[in-house]
Amino acid sequence: MYQIAFIVRQSQIARVEPIYQDAEALSNELIETGADKNKWRFIALFKKKPACQKALFDQTRQILKQPELKIVGAPVPHKNWLKETARAFAPLTLGHYFIYGSHCDKALPKDKITLKIDAATAFGSGRHATTQACLQALDFLFEQKQSVRKVLDLGCGSGILAFAAAHRYPKAVIDATDCDAESVRMARFNAQENHIKCQVWQSDSFEKIDQKYDLIFANILARPLIHMAPDLIDHLAPNGYAILSGFLTHQHAWVMKAYQGKCTEVRQFKIKEWQASLVKKN
Ligand SMILES: C[S@@+](CC[C@H](N)C(=O)[O-])C[C@H]1O[C@@H](n2cnc3c(N)ncnc32)[C@H](O)[C@@H]1O
Repeated sequence: MYQIAFIVRQSQIARVEPIYQDAEALSNELIETGADKNKWRFIALFKKKPACQKALFDQTRQILKQPELKIVGAPVPHKNWLKETARAFAPLTLGHYFIYGSHCDKALPKDKITLKIDAATAFGSGRHATTQACLQALDFLFEQKQSVRKVLDLGCGSGILAFAAAHRYPKAVIDATDCDAESVRMARFNAQENHIKCQVWQSDSFEKIDQKYDLIFANILARPLIHMAPDLIDHLAPNGYAILSGFLTHQHAWVMKAYQGKCTEVRQFKIKEWQASLVKKN
């Protein structure tokens, strides 16, 4: 087996994938690179070194408009791939939640909320602190026995937060949106896999959202949270809650300033250098 790998921005994935499909790659894989949610490691797997490797490299650099892009082509070290995948994406227990991939062959715990989410092309495998802080905030709200009838997961990625909310509030209407078409596709797929009734559609911020919600998740970055603050507040029902996340602890005051006067912060949830805030509409 032979692999070709390079770093690609999320918005460029759709442009490079066809080249490798045409070159008869056995599969194209995308792996999160870490804190920068826009950057992915693209790995195309071939049976053997493609004869057209140089042309593939040239075409990739040309399409991505990065003449200096580092592309690595090398034989794949022999590994037991089933074992490797299972180890890299071992099931994850996060408080009341048990998140597992489709390769998991263990019995699911009966005392946990189980969510089947494969680490794929949408953010939200549960491994990032921002998602984990949102789950903690959701559980805190749930324990307060607040009535929640309508939930929006804005920037849903895999849909993980929408699905967790669907378990917590089984009678609630659950909506999920993302500006990224691939995330919308993955969230719809994951909703089916988890037997969760959830409407998912593409929307840039609140562009295509015209309802009010008792709970809005927005796990995006600090700047968009600030820009969308007036719209987000407007889409909260009276006394509605928002779980704001995706910002660093040192950005907290900057983000909260945009919600000041209209919302009251109920609680902060900090994990490593990240944090989420649960706010209530005044
Ligand atoms: C950090 S991920 C969160 C994914 C998931 N909700 C979670 O908590 O794991 C942020 C998601 O928000 C989406 N996003 C970023 N800016 C957005 C915007 N202005 N409107 C809608 N979605 C946005 C991204 O495409 C990405 O899927």
